[in-house]
Amino acid sequence: MSGKLVTIFGGSGFIGRYLVRHLAAQGWRVRVAVRDTAQAGFLKPAGNTGQIALVPCSVTDEAAVAKAVAGADAVINLVGILFERGGRTFQRIHVDGATIVAKAAAAAGVKRLLHLSALGADDQSPSSYARSKEAGEMAVRNAFPGATIFRPSVVFGTEDGFFNLFGAIAAWFPALTFFTNAHPHSPTGGGPKFQPVYVGDVVEAMAQALTGEGHAGKIYELAGPRVYDMREIMHIVNRETQRKRMVWGVPFLLAEIGAMVLQFLPKPLLTPDQVKLLRLGNVATGRRPGLAVFGITPTTVEVVVPTYLKRFRPTQQTKKLRLQAR
Ligand SMILES: NC(=O)c1ccc[n+]([C@@H]2O[C@H](COP(=O)([O-])OP(=O)(O)OC[C@H]3O[C@@H](n4cnc5c(N)ncnc54)[C@H](OP(=O)(O)O)[C@@H]3O)[C@@H](O)[C@H]2O)c1
Repeated sequence: MSGKLVTIFGGSGFIGRYLVRHLAAQGWRVRVAVRDTAQAGFLKPAGNTGQIALVPCSVTDEAAVAKAVAGADAVINLVGILFERGGRTFQRIHVDGATIVAKAAAAAGVKRLLHLSALGADDQSPSSYARSKEAGEMAVRNAFPGATIFRPSVVFGTEDGFFNLFGAIAAWFPALTFFTNAHPHSPTGGGPKFQPVYVGDVVEAMAQALTGEGHAGKIYELAGPRVYDMREIMHIVNRETQRKRMVWGVPFLLAEIGAMVLQFLPKPLLTPDQVKLLRLGNVATGRRPGLAVFGITPTTVEVVVPTYLKRFRPTQQTKKLRLQAR
């Protein structure tokens, strides 16, 4: 099989699966470095026979990472975690792991390195997730100065962990709750603001940065066309799930108390560090270039989110639609 070779760390995740499909369609040979190759087997049909290879690797294993990047023209690191568990700390994954990948890419003579960070990466942030993302960026740039760094806002798409979470809450609970510091009925009481970006736009920008000129050493902020506060997001969820739940603003203090308990779930719904992050919102600063540099018109929430939130509609609704169609 001919074509350039790209190694993708984190290729089995939400954003990764779109990137693997996109690059395979462009003719890249894709080597996906994953901890569990059996679980990532679903990626194989995204390419022709032999086009997508799965190799076992953790970003914290220097020897395995060196093997995974050997012979690659480009390397992409998408690995990230939202909460810490045992040895899987933000420092270990976002900083040490990112350093190992960047050093290995430099040592292997790889031409392009793309690194996925996050909007809000900041060494002064109260959130250790955001501080570790900034430290990871610094470490990557030290080891591989030409690395291109992407900072997306919250990413939406069929398998996302954002709209789907609220869709599931709408399906199972009587209210959609958001957190706010102001009175919830005041104009400023809609809670923190977000600028959700479509996963397809994120991977298109990354694909262009792999082959286009002028992206080395740059940091891009990837954000959607509109800013929403949490109350607006809840109204979108209510509308698209057709659940008519009460949208309820509560003080952040309740989020802090809830997170103290919820953080102990095997896959926590909310941790104290996520509450710190949530308070800040996630909107592009405008100080960095964004999707426009790639000629991408950002896709709106209104176009994509209804296509997958409809799965949370009442079953009666689906039945009614079926009957109407007869
Ligand atoms: N989704 C968003 O809204 C969003 C917003 C801003 C920034 N980001 C950043 O974008 C990146 C990708 O996000 P995502 O939503 O696609 O995350 P995701 O669905 O959780 O995927 C993370 C990927 O990392 C892999 N991974 C975790 N630990 C690993 C390790 N030690 N070694 C090798 N692979 C490991 C996971 O594979 P296994 O665990 O199966 O091994 C998975 O493939 C992350 O860095 C995230 O911080 C995401």
